Amino acid sequence: MRFKYTISIVFFVALVIIEKENNIISRVSDKLTLKQTPQTPLHTNGLSHLLLKHNDSFALMNRRLVNYSERQDRKTRGRKHILLLATTRTGSSFVGEFFNQQGDNMFYLFEPLWHVEKMLALETRVTNATAAARLYRDVLQQLFLCDFSLLENFINPLPVDHITTALFRRESSNSLCDNSVCSPFIKGVFERYHCKTRRCGPLNLTMASESCLQKEHRAIKSVRVRQLETLRPLAEDPRLDVKFIQLVRDPRAVLASRMVAFAAYYKNWKQWAIDGDVPLDDDEVKKLKGNCDNIRMSAEIGLRQPSWLRRRYMLVRYEDIARFPMRKAMEMYRFIGIPLTQQVKSWILKNTQASKEASGVYSTQKNSSQQVEKWRFRIPFKLVQVVQRVCEPTLKLFGYKFVSSEEMLTDKSVSLIEDKLFKI
Ligand SMILES: *[C@@H]1O[C@H](CO)[C@@H](O)[C@H](O)[C@H]1NC(C)=O
Ligand SMILES: *[C@@H]1O[C@H](CO)[C@@H](O)[C@H](O)[C@H]1NC(C)=O
Ligand SMILES: *[C@@H]1O[C@H](CO)[C@@H](O)[C@H](O)[C@H]1NC(C)=O
Ligand SMILES: *[C@@H]1O[C@H](CO)[C@@H](O)[C@H](O)[C@H]1NC(C)=O
Ligand SMILES: *[C@@H]1O[C@H](CO)[C@@H](O)[C@H](O)[C@H]1NC(C)=O
Repeated sequence: MRFKYTISIVFFVALVIIEKENNIISRVSDKLTLKQTPQTPLHTNGLSHLLLKHNDSFALMNRRLVNYSERQDRKTRGRKHILLLATTRTGSSFVGEFFNQQGDNMFYLFEPLWHVEKMLALETRVTNATAAARLYRDVLQQLFLCDFSLLENFINPLPVDHITTALFRRESSNSLCDNSVCSPFIKGVFERYHCKTRRCGPLNLTMASESCLQKEHRAIKSVRVRQLETLRPLAEDPRLDVKFIQLVRDPRAVLASRMVAFAAYYKNWKQWAIDGDVPLDDDEVKKLKGNCDNIRMSAEIGLRQPSWLRRRYMLVRYEDIARFPMRKAMEMYRFIGIPLTQQVKSWILKNTQASKEASGVYSTQKNSSQQVEKWRFRIPFKLVQVVQRVCEPTLKLFGYKFVSSEEMLTDKSVSLIEDKLFKI
């Protein structure tokens, strides 16, 4: 016991010394370079004196500095945990593929929080947003560490011996269908979300966890986190190196898209589109405003770059991805700090050219640059005005131009997307 303590203390002291030393080294070398620049180096007496006198220790320090930065590099070259944050109908399945297609070094999960949300919705007594946010965060944290145990509690029916036939959209994660996670197919066992690329037995989450641990990087896509700030503990977890990518889209386009994809939930909007005024105090309108505000507040925090988010946050507009998919994918990977594989590039090329008929509303295979403006012909001006009224600051922050008339809305020669660069 005492031995363990001693080791911990020695280790801690060593860390402190290394940190201190590195500070001193950087300060000294800063001073040296400062001194060097204003003068013509080496010919000035004072400087050569200094260099001569300190040559040995300077060289040693230099070597240590190189060692130190190498160590840092190795650390930053390490494992990345990518969280793609979005809301529904913002193209997050499409962007998620950028990570799903990365290949063997990436463990990708598609909407694991679906189970948590579903369970919370059933348990009417837990409608507490704070508690839900905490749960989402904890599940994400565990998943980034390849631990499925908390998530298992939310899968319905409950997995038996960590085996489940009900993991939502299993087939959307290549990682959950590759060899290492594909147990032998069992005839007669129905699995709703089964692998499409090969026949596998029900998902063994122990195998999934083991496979996850073998992968270099981990990525999760989620449309269920409301506020980026609730994820702060993830950014501060020393076991993780989290990179948040927030994907946003013009809220007018999102509404247009949702009215088609989730028609049953948008009956009121459809009614308003046909007749009558939109009651601005209606719950549906308030919900829209709430969504816009959440997205904007998350982005504001991210763009402000508080220390806990420094180099961890990137804002991406769906419209830019649709128009420049390859460029944006490269930017994202550069931000994350890992190379983009040929497999991702090929996938992007294949899926952003051919405008084969869209196969279902969840399809990610469509002519994405054509897709960007379509909504303008699908939603009446009246509803556009409502979105512009309740989401005004959100539209402004992301650079979506307001339309002032029906004609402007459907005038294709006017782009509603302002060029905008967001700080990374
Ligand atoms: C410092 O030492 C290196 C060898 O370690 C030598 O090559 C160099 O000339 C020295 N510099 C000065 C300014 O004496
Ligand atoms: C730098 O690291 C190498 C091996 O990684 C080691 O041999 C050398 O002593 C280190 N140098 C200093 C100055 O710490
Ligand atoms: C929500 O849950 C949190 C933590 O469980 C609790 O502290 C808070 O009082 C709850 N809020 C409401 C409105 O129930
Ligand atoms: C699930 O996978 C683990 C790890 O490979 C294995 O030990 C376990 O037996 C598997 N469970 C079943 C029911 O096959
Ligand atoms: C995709 O859509 C754009 C914009 O409408 C069009 O210019 C382009 O030719 C289309 N590409 C394909 C392969 O259909």
